[in-house]
Amino acid sequence: MSKSFSLFILGGTGDLARKKLLPSLSRLFKKGYLQGLDKVYSLARSKREDWEKVACELDEGFGKLCHFIPFDAKDWNSYAELGKVVEKLKGQELIFFLALGPDLFGDAILNLGRLLRNFTNPRKVVIEKPFGYDLESAKRLNSLLERYFIEQEIYRIDHFLGKDTVQNIFSLRFSNLIFEGIWNNHYIDHVQIVALEKVGVGSRGVFYDRVGAIRDMLQNHMLEMLAFTAMEVPARMEEKFIRDEKVKVLKNTSIVKLIRGQYEGYGQEVGREGSKTETFVCAKLLVENFRWHGVSFYLMTGKALKEKLTQITVVFKSVPEGFTSLLDCKPKQNKIVFQTAPESKLQIAFELRPPTGRFIACPVETFMEYKFPSEFEEAYEVLLLDIVEGDQSLFIRGDEVEALWEVVEPYLDRQEEPFMYPQGIPLPEPAREFIRQEGREWLL
Ligand code: BG6
Repeated sequence: MSKSFSLFILGGTGDLARKKLLPSLSRLFKKGYLQGLDKVYSLARSKREDWEKVACELDEGFGKLCHFIPFDAKDWNSYAELGKVVEKLKGQELIFFLALGPDLFGDAILNLGRLLRNFTNPRKVVIEKPFGYDLESAKRLNSLLERYFIEQEIYRIDHFLGKDTVQNIFSLRFSNLIFEGIWNNHYIDHVQIVALEKVGVGSRGVFYDRVGAIRDMLQNHMLEMLAFTAMEVPARMEEKFIRDEKVKVLKNTSIVKLIRGQYEGYGQEVGREGSKTETFVCAKLLVENFRWHGVSFYLMTGKALKEKLTQITVVFKSVPEGFTSLLDCKPKQNKIVFQTAPESKLQIAFELRPPTGRFIACPVETFMEYKFPSEFEEAYEVLLLDIVEGDQSLFIRGDEVEALWEVVEPYLDRQEEPFMYPQGIPLPEPAREFIRQEGREWLL
């Protein structure tokens, strides 16, 4: 018999809840993964529409478990009312999902913490990104959480970790000797991690303008992809040891060069002409340890570009010069690409003799591709299931979130003008120039 639990979504009628959480929950429910689920409470100031109906349209059985509770995250009276609901859930595990604006995290944690002191139910608290605004505020949020919850009850979300491709970096590296053996500065020349987006800031303008690409993407998704690519083998394949290794590699990581851009029309779109917030960022990072000394990690992310592309490209060293002169051509460098968008796949590029012609000939680049099959439609399904089952391997630990902030901290809130780029272009020129200066090209 699975343990009984109820889920409380604070910010329960917001975009995240409507577009991601409820659909993911209903799919998991339909597949029979949420046997112990008793109720899903959506907590929000106003109902906006017939909430139960929305949930029922996803799935009738699931919809019957969904309820709406009027709630103001800043007002203690709302928590006192919530207490009356919790009282009826004797012995159940309570999962609180904070799908709120980051300015409400502090109030919600404080008040939930105070409320839950009156109950003995097992509990979990799930926090969306952005976790803090900088290192200082992240530390404050961590110490507030620690006042009321233990780390095993805290789930800090980075939805990229729910993606098959990101998890497969780990599997490919640590379950295959042929890859792990060459995963170091003897064979790898450099690594490119990109997350290019077609969308602009859309309806999130006011929020985004306070945040920018460094806080929105670099500090979390991009650095997590770097951590999975660069971490050492965990002492044991357990959540504690996996997270230990990510913290270790982040502690050795630093940004050595960074440029910021903004798409044309951004200031007008967010209602703040002259805003210096970046919508594009490109950086060179170094990981100073025995494995990675001398290997550059180039990270690039931006909005309002021509195509969506999210991928990690591990680029291997060139074959020796002497060999290329014998062949009278230069074979391309081998590459391993982990792509999450537009497709979820692994691609290996290597050089082979051309299909026609002589034995000694200039080789051609050949690709081997494997599309990751997935049982789940959304990264959130994977993460929600892990929360229910209590597996924290894919969540960010308190010291890890601080290590992530430490990497970007020197580059936050710089007042220099970002370069401007037209919307819809494949890549801004300064980004091309950035890597060209390093004697390299973006491999997109
Ligand atoms: C979010 C960022 O965390 O990730 C957004 O806040 C971004 O700005 C999004 O668009 C990208 O996620 P995905 O899964 O669509 O690549």
